Amino acid sequence: MKLHGTMTVNSRGHLEIGGCDTVELASTFGTPLYVVDEELFRQNCREYYRAFTEKYGAEVIYAAKTLLTLAICRLVEEEGLGMDVVSGGELYTAIKARFPMSRVYFHGNNKSSEELRLALEARVGRFMVDNLYELEMLNRLAGEMRTRADVILRLTPGVEAHTHEYIKTGQIDSKFGLVIDNGQALAGVRRALEMENIILHGLHCHIGSQIFELDSYAHAAGIMMDFAARVARETGWVPAELDLGGGLGIYYAEGDEPRPVAEYADVIMRAVREKALAHGLPVPRVIVEPGRSISGPAGTTLYTVGAVKDIPGVRKYVAVDGGMGDNPRPALYQSRYEACLANKAAAPAEEVVSIAGKCCESGDMLIWDIALPRVEPGDILAVSCTGAYNYSMSMNYNRLPRPAMVLVRDGQADIIVERETYEDLLRNDVIPERLRRSRRLNVASAR
Ligand code: LLP
Repeated sequence: MKLHGTMTVNSRGHLEIGGCDTVELASTFGTPLYVVDEELFRQNCREYYRAFTEKYGAEVIYAAKTLLTLAICRLVEEEGLGMDVVSGGELYTAIKARFPMSRVYFHGNNKSSEELRLALEARVGRFMVDNLYELEMLNRLAGEMRTRADVILRLTPGVEAHTHEYIKTGQIDSKFGLVIDNGQALAGVRRALEMENIILHGLHCHIGSQIFELDSYAHAAGIMMDFAARVARETGWVPAELDLGGGLGIYYAEGDEPRPVAEYADVIMRAVREKALAHGLPVPRVIVEPGRSISGPAGTTLYTVGAVKDIPGVRKYVAVDGGMGDNPRPALYQSRYEACLANKAAAPAEEVVSIAGKCCESGDMLIWDIALPRVEPGDILAVSCTGAYNYSMSMNYNRLPRPAMVLVRDGQADIIVERETYEDLLRNDVIPERLRRSRRLNVASAR
């Protein structure tokens, strides 16, 4: 397993993160356990801040959908980034963490009127409007609330990013955004400009996620700037802001070759500046929305090994105490992960095994064919790069409680999400009165 951030192997041969022995973390906090490397999370924020904000005056907004808790809001705020939220729930988390609302950008392709009202009341920095239905609703609600909404329009530039089918969002056949090619985008701009309670600031696109080809970004930036020029010619309105989404790919396993954030920034900014010059437009304020490349490598999940099932000549299954409930990505996207035995981190690999989760589902496999030291029940398995889209996509399938999360730094570990209890699982369950009664009747008639 590649070591990320502050990971080391200590003198006891144990994996250490943020100066904390992960075997001790497992025994103190239980497993499965999400471990977040605070230093690496912050470093990743800073890398973006330096590459985009310090160098180009661009804005970096963290994509909260990858990993969001109250404590994470604090880290993002302290590092000077803004935040991209996509639901009332994410917005509510940011509000409760007292995250500065002017730095919040509200995304989503089907925001409800309640969500829009909440965001208008909170005075979020920008509404990333996805479609005309939302635009009309936002204009009306802002009018009712005697305020105005600051808007960026989401467009579909028709760029295909080379990534997994499910996480491509920039192509024309997409549920997101107004299509540029068929005139919807221009019509959207015209409509927004004539609305009384809408202040249109700029344009947005997002071409996908886990992207390694920087050319795709340059291409998308070019299309957006060409469109900006056309809009300026036809309406006289010049977009002051250009949001190019997120999506930079990270290392999960061998074969993944992430590009440096600084290079990503240079490619984007060069493309935007060249086009601005060519079209005689001012260079817009550029915004980017990285998520995975900030939170992904900062997360590691610890599991305890339980049953080991050897089918001679076929495969050895090693079952752990979590799985698709805390990490649905392998089942959904065939994602690959690396792992090590945290308590035998210095030992050489001895066998090839496959890591199974504990859900009643054959597809609940975390890793196929991984070389590890001899695996025994009670070993602690550490799976790396689980910071993005793991906790945020976790679920209670089979009524498995969701894991706790600890933030580690300089030898200190603090809980930032409590482990769910069985009681938590029942919190929203209700037995209607008539079922309570019928139970008594049944018991009575059985007598
Ligand atoms: N901005 C927008 C508008 C997005 O839709 C996304 C991700 C991002 C920013 C952040 O992208 P990132 O930098 O994290 O790649 N659940 C899938 C990924 C879905 C991506 C959704 N949009 C996964 O686990 O791979």
